[in-house]
Amino acid sequence: MTTSRTALIYANVILIIVCFLFSAAYAEEVNTIWLDELDLSKATCGWGQVNKNKSCQGNPLKINGVEYERGMGTHTPSTLILKLDGKVTRFTAIIGVDDEISEQPTSDRGSIDFKVVGDKKVLYTSGTIRGYQTPEKIDIDLTGVEELRLIADDIENNYYDHADWVMAKFEYTGKPPVTIDIPKPKPYILTPKPKPTPRITGPKVFGARPGNPFLFTVTATGQRPMKFKIKGLPKGLKLDSESGRITGTAKKRGEYKTTVTAQNSLGKAKRELRIVIGDTICLTPPMGWNSWNCWACSVTEKNVRDTAEAMVASGLINHGFSYINIDDCWMRKADSNDAAIGPPVRDETGMLLTNDRFGDMKALTDYIHSLGLKAGVCISPGPTTCAGYVGSWQHEEQDAKYFAEMGFDYLKYDWCGYSKVSGNEKLEDLQRPYILMGQILEESGRDIVYSLCQYGMGNVWEWGEAVGGNCWRTTGDIVDNWGSMSGIGFSQADHWPYAKLGSWNDPDMLVVGKVGWGPNLHDSRLTADEQYTHISLWCLLSAPLLIGCPIEQLDDFTMNLLTNDEVLEVNQDPLGRQAKRIVKTDDVQVWYKDMEDGSKAIGLFNVNDYDEKTIGVKFEDLGLKGESHRVRDLWRQKDLGEFDGLFNAEVPVHGVKLIRVW
Ligand code: GAL
Repeated sequence: MTTSRTALIYANVILIIVCFLFSAAYAEEVNTIWLDELDLSKATCGWGQVNKNKSCQGNPLKINGVEYERGMGTHTPSTLILKLDGKVTRFTAIIGVDDEISEQPTSDRGSIDFKVVGDKKVLYTSGTIRGYQTPEKIDIDLTGVEELRLIADDIENNYYDHADWVMAKFEYTGKPPVTIDIPKPKPYILTPKPKPTPRITGPKVFGARPGNPFLFTVTATGQRPMKFKIKGLPKGLKLDSESGRITGTAKKRGEYKTTVTAQNSLGKAKRELRIVIGDTICLTPPMGWNSWNCWACSVTEKNVRDTAEAMVASGLINHGFSYINIDDCWMRKADSNDAAIGPPVRDETGMLLTNDRFGDMKALTDYIHSLGLKAGVCISPGPTTCAGYVGSWQHEEQDAKYFAEMGFDYLKYDWCGYSKVSGNEKLEDLQRPYILMGQILEESGRDIVYSLCQYGMGNVWEWGEAVGGNCWRTTGDIVDNWGSMSGIGFSQADHWPYAKLGSWNDPDMLVVGKVGWGPNLHDSRLTADEQYTHISLWCLLSAPLLIGCPIEQLDDFTMNLLTNDEVLEVNQDPLGRQAKRIVKTDDVQVWYKDMEDGSKAIGLFNVNDYDEKTIGVKFEDLGLKGESHRVRDLWRQKDLGEFDGLFNAEVPVHGVKLIRVW
C-alpha cells in the first residue's frame, strides 16, 4: 500500500513536471510592440506628414485636452498596411482628431472615419469623429488576420482632418507585425504611338479679347517637317506655316470659323478651329505644366526653362499642352508686416523683385513664347503667400501691370496668406480680393487666364465666373495617393452646372510622373490604374490639365498617359460640359460627359480596394436613343463594336474603362 502510494505520488510529480516542460516549450510568449516602433514612412497621408509620436503638423499628440506620449499623427486620407502573418492577436489604440486644429471654427474641426480592415473585412469603423470629441478606444482581436490596414478617411471635406492613433500597440506571438508599401504593380502602356500622318490636336475653339496680343499654336502629331495653313482668319492675325503659330491682334469682335490644315509628306489633316474674338478667354480647360507638385519652393529658372524645352523636344506640345506656369516662390521672401511696403522685397517704386533663383522674368517669358508656349505665374492677394513670399496686398494694380509687362498669360491667385487681412471670411470677404484682381486683369491689355485658388471656400463655383475667373480650385491640395486623388476627383459631382466655355472647376494639378514638393522627387505613388483613373476623371470633369512633374524627366508610361489624343479630346471638347455621375456605390462609379458631336464619353470606375469589378452602363440612362451603339475604348484607341442597350466591362482595382459611345 505504502509502496503503491509513493509510486502514485512520484507518477503525479513526474506528470506535473512533464506538463510544465511541455507547456513551457510550446506555449508561445505574448509580446507587445507599439505602432510607433514600426516603420511609419510606409503610411500615406493627405496633408502635412506622417509622424511618430507627433501630430501631422509636428506638435505633441493631443486629443481633447489630453497629451499622449506615443502614437502616429497623420491626416486623411491615410492608409498604413501591415503584414501580420496570423500571429498578431490584438490591436489596441485610442483615436481622435488632434487638438492642433483648435483655431478652426467648430464646423471645420475635422470629420474622420478611422477604420481597421483585416483581410478585406472591416473590423472596426469609428463613424464620424470630430475635433474635441472624447477619444474612442479600439480593442480588436486579430487572431488569424494576415493583412491589416489602418485607414483614416475623410467624411465631409478633407480640411483639418488631423488624425491621431495614440497609445496604439499590437500583441503578438512569433514575429512582430511589419508595415509594407502599398502594392504598386508594374505600369503598363495602353495607347498606341501616334501615327506619322498628320492629326490636328488641341482645342477646337479659342477665345481672345479684341485688341490684345493673340497667341495660339495650332498643334498636330505626325512626322516633321509639317506645313500649316488656315482659311478664314480674322483680320490682324497671321499664321506661321512652319510652326503653326497664330499671332497678331484681332480688333473686330465675332466668331470666325476657320479651317486649319496640317500637311506632311505622308498626308494631310483638316479641322475646323473656331476663333472667338470677344470678352471670354480660356474657352477650353488650360493644358500645361505647373512647378508646384514637383519643385514647390525649390523651383529655379533653370527648372522652368528645362521643362519648357522638354515640352517641345518630347513632343508634348503637339498634343495641345501650352502653359508653363511658375507657382509660388519666385519672388522674395517677406515678413508679412513689411511685405506690402517696399525694399528689400520690392524695389523703391514698389515693383516686385525676383529672388536669386530667378533672373529677368521678361527674358524668361520671351523664351517660353519663342517655343510656341505660354507663361504663367502665381501670387497671393495677401501680404505673403503660403510659403512666406511677398504677395500683392495693396499692390494689386502695380502687380497686374508687372505681370502684363513681363508677358505672362496666366495668373494663379492663391488665397493662402490673405487670411491674415481678410476680415470675417464672410462671402464678401472671400470675394473681395478676387473681384479686385479680376477687374484689373480685364483691363491689363493682355489675355491673362485668371485662376482662382482658395480651395472652394464660399462655394466659389457659384461666383467664380462673376468675378472674372476662368477656373477655380474646388478643394484643398492634392497629393500622390489614391485617397487624395480619388477623394478630390470623385467629390466634384455637384459642380457640373458651373462648368462652361471659359469657366472651369479645378480639382488641382496632376500627380503623375515624378513629384515631391521640393528638391527630392519620387515616382507618383499612384498605381498605373490609378493614374488612368486620374487622367480619365480630370478629362471627364473638363478640369485644367496641369502636369506637376518635370517634363524633362518623363518616363515612357507617363508620356503615354499624357499623349492620348482621344482622351485629351474629351477634356478639350468644345461643348464645354462637365461629366455627371449616374452610378455611385461603395465599389463602382459611372460618369458621363456630353460631347459636341452628340456622343457620350463614359468612365466606368472601380473604386473597390481589393477586387476587379464588372461595371455596366445602360445606354438609355445616358439619354441615348435607338438600340445599337458604337463603342470605342479610348485608352486603347480601339473600336469595341456595336452594343445593344448595355455595355459591360471588367475593370481592375482603382482602374477605369473610358469609352465613347455614338
Ligand atoms: C497653396 C496652393 C498650392 C500652391 C501653394 C503654394 O495654397 O493650394 O497649389 O500654390 O499654395 O504656396
